[in-house]
This record gives sequence, structure tokens and C-alpha cells, in this order.
Amino acid sequence: MIENKNEDLSFDEFDEITNPGPDVTGFEQVVEKAMSRRNFLGGGLAIGASAFVLGSTALTPFNAKAASSFDFEPIPANSLDTVTVPKGYSWQVVTQWGDELWSKSIPFDHKTRGTGESQELAIGDNNDGMSLFTIDGHHLLVSNNEYTNRSIMYDNRESKLPETADDIRKGKAAHGVTVVEIKQDGKKWNIVKDSKYNRRITADSPMEISGPARGHDLLKTSADPSGTQSLGTWNNCGNGRTPWGTYLACEENFNGYFSSSDENYAPSDELKRYGVKNEDWGYAWAKEDERFDISKNPNEPNRAGYVVEIDPSDPTSTPKKRTALGRFKHENAEVVVNKDGHVVVYMGDDERGEFIYRFVSKGKFAEGGDNTDLLDEGQLYVAKFNDDQSGEWLELSPATTGMKSQAEVCIHARIAASKVGATTMDRPEWVASHPKKAEIYCALTNNKNRGKKPNAGGDETPVTGPNPRAANLYGQIVRWRPQDENHTSNAFSWDLFVMAGNPTVHNDAYAGSKNIDAHNMFNSPDGISFDNNGKLWIQTDGKYSNKDDFAGMGNNQMLIGDTETGEIQRFLVGPKECEVTGITWSEDRKTVFVGIQHPGEKGDSTFPGGEGTAPRSVIVAVTKDDGTVIG
Ligand code: FEO
Ligand code: CA
Ligand code: CA
Repeated sequence: MIENKNEDLSFDEFDEITNPGPDVTGFEQVVEKAMSRRNFLGGGLAIGASAFVLGSTALTPFNAKAASSFDFEPIPANSLDTVTVPKGYSWQVVTQWGDELWSKSIPFDHKTRGTGESQELAIGDNNDGMSLFTIDGHHLLVSNNEYTNRSIMYDNRESKLPETADDIRKGKAAHGVTVVEIKQDGKKWNIVKDSKYNRRITADSPMEISGPARGHDLLKTSADPSGTQSLGTWNNCGNGRTPWGTYLACEENFNGYFSSSDENYAPSDELKRYGVKNEDWGYAWAKEDERFDISKNPNEPNRAGYVVEIDPSDPTSTPKKRTALGRFKHENAEVVVNKDGHVVVYMGDDERGEFIYRFVSKGKFAEGGDNTDLLDEGQLYVAKFNDDQSGEWLELSPATTGMKSQAEVCIHARIAASKVGATTMDRPEWVASHPKKAEIYCALTNNKNRGKKPNAGGDETPVTGPNPRAANLYGQIVRWRPQDENHTSNAFSWDLFVMAGNPTVHNDAYAGSKNIDAHNMFNSPDGISFDNNGKLWIQTDGKYSNKDDFAGMGNNQMLIGDTETGEIQRFLVGPKECEVTGITWSEDRKTVFVGIQHPGEKGDSTFPGGEGTAPRSVIVAVTKDDGTVIG
């Protein structure tokens, strides 16, 4: 076990240390290729020779004063320990980590930060993706509880780590998904305690495994020899929602919870591709639950890394792991109903040099019909981006990969995608579909290994195409248009909507694209979502040092982009050391709910309670003071 769990590092930094890519395979070729292209910049940095394939909107310098298409006054960056919104807007906390869901719940204790029992009856930690469902007049806020910061959760322990069995029970209960009914009393949104819909899904809740991998040998364990029923979901990052009223929770860094009691245990290459190792990331779950001990249950990690479908209208329903959508470090799942009725799901795999995927359902969506298992049967694809701005979806099947079955293709989707030559991307985070046309956007958050190191499967990461900057510390947003506006077509064209950067520090590609200036600069786009008007809301999970390469960017934030003009303006700034992630609207569109995750992840925040309180992840509601619609 790792003794020092590096609690001063961010989650991404920790991930990189504990799970670095292999550093030799193809390294020389990559560097050579990159250096031969550096004439673009005239030296120093490696940049793709074909220049950047930026959309026309991103190429035109934007004059905000002359033609803003937004009706709010953009706000400056800041490093305050609070939420900042534009003049004429207000925010309020709706739910917080540890808030009570039932009368029997135990109030949050800022000193101990809860127990196993209190956490099981309360809102989970580190809210991420979310959706608001309105069912029979009840507003159900469903959100992922991605992970926990051990130094915050176990602040009562000297080690700042779980030390007792109950500490581990608390940690497992803080993960998963929270369903909570909320109600607006006057202007304030409040939790409805004891609502029949309130529900906690945790790392111990029963799940059904469905789709092509159901019952496969790779999913069988001593506790479940059938390979059809697993326990729990954890590290749910972004989300999705279906037109048939269900919620999709996407399992991301599931690997960090597994460890081996036998230090000489040698994890398989397949486990290594997914970052599963003999040490966990400090959660210590294997100490109390053998499922997480890979030397005893080597197949258990194969039962995580999926999209989990949950019916929020039925608190007794069993969540289903939809294996047809592939197993990887899922960010979110953007569901589109194609014009012919096929359901198309776009998904990113958030790791340096991993891929973007598409699922096309076999069946068709039937309005008001039975769509229950549409996500169980269909075809999985992976994206290839060509330098000439064309792209194609490559089928992932036994025929194209040489793998034995579709079950194996889905379980080892990363390996399948490597076999067909998919394009290694700069950490694909959320995917968002334009509500008014066939155009899909994906946030590529950053990738310091671009042009330097292959991915964990040994695939090269050349500096080219939609990943045009070596050691990419700022990120970009790529978009593509399916041929004939048909989401089932295997052909598409692409460009970049924005390259983030810092024009006050750099005068090369690291200054960002032309629609970035000193007033709207940011780094590491992550959560993205369209409002009903087709404006793109962009949330960041980046560096908040406000120094050097990041000078002038302040805390993590949320911006809004006009994808027609390229204009991007800052709408919200989060508190210290937070990430802004997760967004959904009320049914009347007069409230936008925004997630503030892990304020004070390095110890410098008391948001939202102030002096003497624990920093807590929260969901805030933002409203317009004049009571009109937002977005
Ligand atoms: Fe959980 Fe990729 O962010
Ligand atoms: Ca994210
Ligand atoms: Ca991120």
C-alpha cells in the first residue's frame, strides 16, 4: 500500500503519478515527427505542420463590445472563496454533501464529517454530472457523487485517511448517485425530506449487468458466478439522460479503488490498460471488502467502467450496467435520437491519449413506447480524425478487431479501439449535442503527454489534427458534423471551436485561438452542455494557481459560447480550489443548477459555510433577479 497518499495533489495530478503512461514505446518517432513540424512556430515548440484546423468562428478575432449575443455582463476572473455571477443574477445553495434526505438522517457534523450511518442517509460527496427530472409535478435532482477527497472526508483522522471499518463504510456511502426531490418555496429551492423518490445508490447497491457482456466469463466472480449481478457504482463522473426519462451515470476512474493483498500479484495487461494496480488511491476499500482485492477477485474490475442506467421515477428499480456502450473511463453519455429513430450515444474516455466512442442502437426510439432496453443492443464505434478535417467511425466488432466476441470487445473496448487505429485524443471529457442541428462538441481538457508519451496501450500521440499542441496544458473543444446530418453515418467532418490559452503570457499557439482574449481566458474545458437556444455552457476543471501560464485565469469557472460567432464570455466563477462541473435546468428554464465540486481540495477553502466549517461540494441554483428564463 502507498503510505503517502499525496493529498496535496489534485485528482488529475494524483492519477498521473499513480498511473503514468509507459514512457518508451514510440517515443523517438513521436518526438522526431513533432520536431520536423516546428517550422509552424519558428522553433521551440512542436506544433502540427498543417496549422490548426479551427472553425471559421474561432479564427475571427471577436469584438465583444461590437456584437455580443449575450444579455449578461461578463464577469472578470477572480480567486475569491465564493461563487460569482453577473449583475442581475443570484445564486443559492440547494444541496450540500452530507445534507439530510430523511427525518431519520443525522445532521452533518463539521468536526467528524460524518459516520458510515450518517453518510448512508445523506447526500453523497463531490457531486458531478446531474439532471433534473420532473415527474408528476415532483422535481427530482439526480446527481453523481464522483469521489471523495480523503483529506477533507477524514479530516478527523491524523493520517487524513480512512483508519477504521466505519471510515471505509462512510467512504463507500459517499460515492454513487443521489436522487433528491427539491421544491421551490418562493425564490428558494429546498430539499423535500422523506420524499418517496429520495434515494442513495452507493458502492454497495445491487446492479444488474446487461447487454452483450452479461454472463461472460470475464465478469464472473466468486460472489457472482453468473456474471450478471454486481454491487455498486463509483467514480461516476459526467452523466446523460435519455428521452425515455432515465438517468445515465458514467463510471470513470473506477480503477483507483482496487488493490492487492498480495504484493507480488501481477495484474494482467488488460487490467494495466485500465490502470488497475496493486495499490489503490487511498480509499482502502479492499481492507473491508474482498471484492476490491484483485489478487482474490481479478475479474471484479471488469464489472466497473460502464454506463449505468437508472430510473429515477422508481426508487426500487435496479440500476443496469449497459455493457454494449463499452468499458472505459466514461466521462459522460450524450444521447441523440437520430432522424430515423436510432438512438446514438456519444462518449469520451477521459485519459491521456484515449478515444471518443459512438454507440448506435439496433432498435428505434418509440415515443411513449417501451424503450427499456434500447441500450443493450447495437453497435459500438470509435472515432478516427484525419488531418484533412474528415473523420470516420470505426466499427468495434470481432470482425474488425480479431477479438473472440462482442462481449470481449465491450469489456476491453480500449484494447479493441487501439487495434482498429482510433485517434488518440487530449483527454476527452464531456460531449454535447447541438439542440438545433447535427453538430457534436467534445471538450478535450488538456494533455501534457501530447507529443511526448504514448497512451497506456502504447499508441502514439502525434501532434496533429484535433490535438495540435504538444504538451497541451490548456485544452480545446473539437466539434464534428455527421455526413448528411445523419448520426448513424460513419463519415463526419470536424474542426476546432476553440483552443484555450493565455494570450497575456504567450504569443504562439499557447495564446489560444482568436476567440480567446485577456477577458475570457480559461484552461481545461471539461463539462459542456447546450441550453435550449443552442448556446454552449463550458465548465472548467483546470489549474487555479492564477500564476505563470495560468496568470489572470483565476478560479475554475463557467463560460457561455456562441457556436455561430465564436464569442465566449464568462458567466460564473467558483470558489477556491473547486471544479465547476454538472449542469441542468429547471423545467421552466428559470433556474440553472450548477455543480461546485471539491472546494478546498488542497486545504484553502471553507466554502460554503465560512470560517470554522468543512468545505463541501454543493449544487447551486442560479436565477435571474427579474425572474425570466436563463438559456
Ligand atoms: Fe471526472 Fe474526466 O472528469
Ligand atoms: Ca469531468
Ligand atoms: Ca477534468
